[in-house]
Amino acid sequence: MSRILAHRSGPLVGVVDVPGAKNSVLKLMVASLYASGEHRLTNVPEISDVDAMAVLLGSLGVDVRFAAPGSHELVLSNSGQVASVAPPDEVGSIRASINLLGPLLACRGHVRLDMPGGDDFGSRPIDMHVAGLSAMGVSFEADATHLEARVDRLRGADVVLDYPSVGATENVMCAAVHAEGTTTIRHAAREPEVADLACLLVEMGARIDGIGTDVLRIEGVPRGALIPTTHAVVNDRIQAATYMAATAVLGGDVVVRGADPDHMRMFLRKLVEMGVDVEATVDGVRVSIDRRLSTVDVQTLPYPGVATDYKPLMVTMMAVADGVGVMTENLYPGRFRYVEELSKLGADIRTDGHHAVVHGVERLRGAAVAAPDIRAGAALVVAGLAAEGRTTISGFEHVERGYDDLIGRLSAIGARLERV
Ligand code: EPU
Repeated sequence: MSRILAHRSGPLVGVVDVPGAKNSVLKLMVASLYASGEHRLTNVPEISDVDAMAVLLGSLGVDVRFAAPGSHELVLSNSGQVASVAPPDEVGSIRASINLLGPLLACRGHVRLDMPGGDDFGSRPIDMHVAGLSAMGVSFEADATHLEARVDRLRGADVVLDYPSVGATENVMCAAVHAEGTTTIRHAAREPEVADLACLLVEMGARIDGIGTDVLRIEGVPRGALIPTTHAVVNDRIQAATYMAATAVLGGDVVVRGADPDHMRMFLRKLVEMGVDVEATVDGVRVSIDRRLSTVDVQTLPYPGVATDYKPLMVTMMAVADGVGVMTENLYPGRFRYVEELSKLGADIRTDGHHAVVHGVERLRGAAVAAPDIRAGAALVVAGLAAEGRTTISGFEHVERGYDDLIGRLSAIGARLERV
């Protein structure tokens, strides 16, 4: 277990750069399965999920390595001999391994993988992936531990998702790239990371219309028609939000360079409601505040609503804000587990089903807490920096799955953090 120590800090001042997004890069890496040859991704975050995906792709026949240490550029060499059976150990550690489904069905007509790991937010079903792909002719065999899918000829279909699931949109779109005819995905996810994957596929030769909207139209092209390309990973709006939330809680004046205000409109609107000054700059977003936050009510929704991944950060802001706010989680029923950890720091939060009622307190106090997942872990770091005394955060390895140098980036703008 990796642990870090946070000392009360602030105000934060300076400039922090936003790295590429975990939830984009992992899927962009998988797209290397479509074409033999050398693919390049730039703006790649140095996070452990990228390492795990590199091992998984290596087991399937794509060699993945950084161009040079610190280059943030990945070179993915597809040997042309791609396997369709993913070894259980590699799949087990990473939720995004479910994203092998669409590309492997498109390229090989077969895939076998154990049920993916990743964060445990209660039940995370894949029924929409299965329904969408079944409409395209795929047959599935599954039990509690593994999933096998086959198709002779993928055919275009009209797929209406019950809910704009990120993973289901990506898998159906990826399968449709080599399906016969046109596939339409209605009620598709519109997240910037989904659009980033669609853009990469188009750069490789796929035909996709409606990128960034909730209706995607994909016209299938024959197998072998896609070619390798070089693509820059979209910046991470959740990491950007983390530096903004830290500034909001600790006070200060920080430019988050590389944050795209168009990708985080609702989050920025909530910051303004809480009393933070937010200004778009030429190359990012500047946030500043010199008084206590006011609380807000928030509910998580699919993009462009407030993302569930922002929620632990928002609850942390509400925990030290003036007033009583309600957070409603509409996506993952089990995603309130970090509340118990925040309470150890003196936060006053009651949960009831999908809701958390947060009574803002003036001061948090240092304690030992444990990170249950990536986003909650980052929020506990922010809370620890606001707490009197010292806070130890264990389970920091969860945070490192998705954050590129959180400690270094926060320290550079004035946070006092150390590894123990
Ligand atoms: N859902 C179903 N059936 C399905 C698919 C999804 O019921 O077939 C439900 C899920 O259980 C969940 C909701 O729909 O309640 C949203 O799931 P979605 O498919 O949109 O999410 P995902 O693709 O599994 C991605 C990110 C998550 C992020 C969500 C929502 C990756 C690898 N993961 O997950 O990121 O929370 O979208 O935006 O892209 C994180 O980065 O910490 C993280 C958990």
